[in-house]
Amino acid sequence: MTVGAMPRGAVLRLAPSPDALAQAAATEVLALLEAAMAWRGDAHLVLSGGRTPAALYRSLAILPFEGWPNVHVWFGDERTVPPDHADSNYRMAAETLLGAVPIPAAQVHRWAGELDPAQAAADYDAALRVLAQTQERDVPALDVLLLGLGADAHTASLFPGSPLLSESLAGATGPADRPDPAGRSTVSLAAAVHVPALDTWRLTITPAVITAARATIVLVSGADKHAALRRVLGDDPSPLDAPATLLHDAPGDVAWFVDRAALFG
Ligand code: 6PG
Repeated sequence: MTVGAMPRGAVLRLAPSPDALAQAAATEVLALLEAAMAWRGDAHLVLSGGRTPAALYRSLAILPFEGWPNVHVWFGDERTVPPDHADSNYRMAAETLLGAVPIPAAQVHRWAGELDPAQAAADYDAALRVLAQTQERDVPALDVLLLGLGADAHTASLFPGSPLLSESLAGATGPADRPDPAGRSTVSLAAAVHVPALDTWRLTITPAVITAARATIVLVSGADKHAALRRVLGDDPSPLDAPATLLHDAPGDVAWFVDRAALFG
């Protein structure tokens, strides 16, 4: 069921339960991947972390889809832990999806969470920049971007007050952003950020990469996300206070896949 009346043309897709949400989102993800392949032969899918997407990834792993060998997988963010750590977003994706579908290992772009955060961010920035160059863009256009929503309205690892948000809002685009000798501005694509609320470092794609996605699906499940969802979709706070509102300015398609508990509390 689609619910309209959304800010800036975003679309709200309402599912009756977490399982129905996972199924509906999985069907949409595969349709978007098929469309990307029809145009460009391959597709770039960005996975989100946390707990909510696990059910979606399990659904993706069992739905019929022949296109996996042409899919490149990226991660919107990662924790600063090794890939076998219980908190690793890569580990969760590997256990629920990547181990079950035939994506070539070279097409799975894992953040090196085991390295020094600045080095891991630099490596990921370089990998995204290779993709951008093949697209003749400064910022890569990723075909399908999956995001979650935190109870504090964070998304990826862009938390309230993040310097990445203030730089993006101020028009600057981050520490690596300066005209390069070729005269093109280099926009930072990946960053390591300290999150005071969690007292830890996180690795994340930047607002520039998020808003450049061709299609974004935000997956929101559970009554604990109700307040954040109402803020982001209703009150229109600043992205600095509610980072997920940065999606309202994304020119691509943004669909909010939510279940009844998230929408109605
Ligand atoms: C992460 C995610 C993060 C997540 C939200 C929601 O690494 O944790 O990228 O942005 O999507 O925190 O997490 P849950 O799905 O666990 O509620």
